[in-house]
Amino acid sequence: MDSDVLATALRGRAKEYAVKEYSVKVEARGAHRGRLTLKIAMIGTGYVGLVTGTCFAETGNDVVCVDIDADKIARLRRGDVPIYEPGLTELVVRNAKMGRLRFTTECKEAVASARCVFIAVGTPQGNDGSANLTGLWKVVETLAPLLGPGAVVVIKSTVPVGTNRLVADRLRKLCGREIDVASNPEFLKEGAAIDDFTKPDRVVVGVARPEVAETLRELYKPYLRTENPFLVMGLESAEMTKYVANCMLATKISFINEMANLCDRVGADIDEVRRGIGHDHRIGFAFLFPGVGYGGSCFPKDVRALVSVAESREVEPSVLRAVDHVNTAQKEVLYHKMHRHFEGALADKVIAVWGLSFKPRTDDIREAPSLVLIERLLAAKADVRVHDPVAQDNVRALYGDRLTYCSHHYDTLDAADALAIVTEWNEFRNPDFAYMQHKMKQPVIFDGRNLYDPRRMRELGFLYSGIGLHS
Ligand SMILES: NC(=O)c1ccc[n+]([C@@H]2O[C@H](COP(=O)([O-])OP(=O)(O)OC[C@H]3O[C@@H](n4cnc5c(N)ncnc54)[C@H](O)[C@@H]3O)[C@@H](O)[C@H]2O)c1
Repeated sequence: MDSDVLATALRGRAKEYAVKEYSVKVEARGAHRGRLTLKIAMIGTGYVGLVTGTCFAETGNDVVCVDIDADKIARLRRGDVPIYEPGLTELVVRNAKMGRLRFTTECKEAVASARCVFIAVGTPQGNDGSANLTGLWKVVETLAPLLGPGAVVVIKSTVPVGTNRLVADRLRKLCGREIDVASNPEFLKEGAAIDDFTKPDRVVVGVARPEVAETLRELYKPYLRTENPFLVMGLESAEMTKYVANCMLATKISFINEMANLCDRVGADIDEVRRGIGHDHRIGFAFLFPGVGYGGSCFPKDVRALVSVAESREVEPSVLRAVDHVNTAQKEVLYHKMHRHFEGALADKVIAVWGLSFKPRTDDIREAPSLVLIERLLAAKADVRVHDPVAQDNVRALYGDRLTYCSHHYDTLDAADALAIVTEWNEFRNPDFAYMQHKMKQPVIFDGRNLYDPRRMRELGFLYSGIGLHS
């Protein structure tokens, strides 16, 4: 077959498949055959709500995302995704175009016909450390009169143990009938959210009646094709699972950071120690990288919220308190190293900062260690030059012209007295060290992510200080 004939044949076949796929979908919707197509309302269109809603639309469900932030909704309607999350824009645009994903500020339109009403509003830290549930309760009051028969309310927000049952009680009062409430905590990581959602290690669902879990099992089925488990449990266990998971991860980070600080003092190298322990299968390697402390919208607030839950039940959360304490101190580590190096004379020193987001592949700066360092450097009257591939605008909104924002990481180094590396973006991993040296006034690097080999850095003529590295 010559190539033109082959191309025409393939085009014909592609069209045939497209038509087939479309009719299968219509059949499934119309006659309820094949996989169940659900109408879903997603209340709260932030990191979690937008990713969850979009991924459910991607498998053919009708999803309406609601948010009180009119500007956010207007942007999403234009296909302008307000957060940086790799792969998300493409999915949002495609599903919106197909009419499966819509955005609104009107709860009524979304909830009235929905079979599953997800709540994914923020649950930030309150003044006393406990989770602030004001947004969640507002949503419960708003949606109660709108719920259709058989609708299930699914709480995706991270909420303290007991909240789901309280929501069910409140809905019973407001609606005058029993409303099913399910807890479905989310485990996605910003920066890898699509992958985490579409290939979850497990899906956790807490219910008061096992039948309620079946609707959610159908919904998640397309993403659980590799036999990863769909775990059904009690409401309280599901609520606790989310907190325990985050607190366990935070504990690992604080533990290895404390060990790294100790290595610094005793002449050991945390990277050698890390390898020495990681090969032990009981320990493993995950989340045992020392650094400048965890940040973000989840770990800090979730550790404190669980402390608050424990206190309210008269259980002393000694480990959790220590985890939080170590982390708060760790965010200061780079500053203290610099302070020591410059013998307190930081005024007018030019300090370059690489990385502002709390971790790579996100523009989220909530509780980011970079902010603690910037605060300290500004208070010491240093001249701070920063770069981040995507989080720069968010930092500019906080600090305005008190910092110099550079569009390339090398530009931060002009006449710099030192460089501080705070976020381990890939583009920082293999830089041109000769060029860096040429730009800097002094070849001094304080690396909060242990990106480079200390011996090589010394050979290259840098004064290089990592976290717990023996140089
Ligand atoms: N971000 C994460 O990586 C992550 C991961 C797992 C779980 N969680 C949890 O998921 C929840 C949401 O987190 P997030 O990071 O998506 O928060 P977010 O701040 O990015 O988004 C929350 C959204 O809810 C909206 N909202 C607030 N009140 C509302 C109301 N009454 N009606 C409609 N919308 C309203 C806000 O405008 C905002 O857009 C939190 O409980 C968080 O702990 C977050």
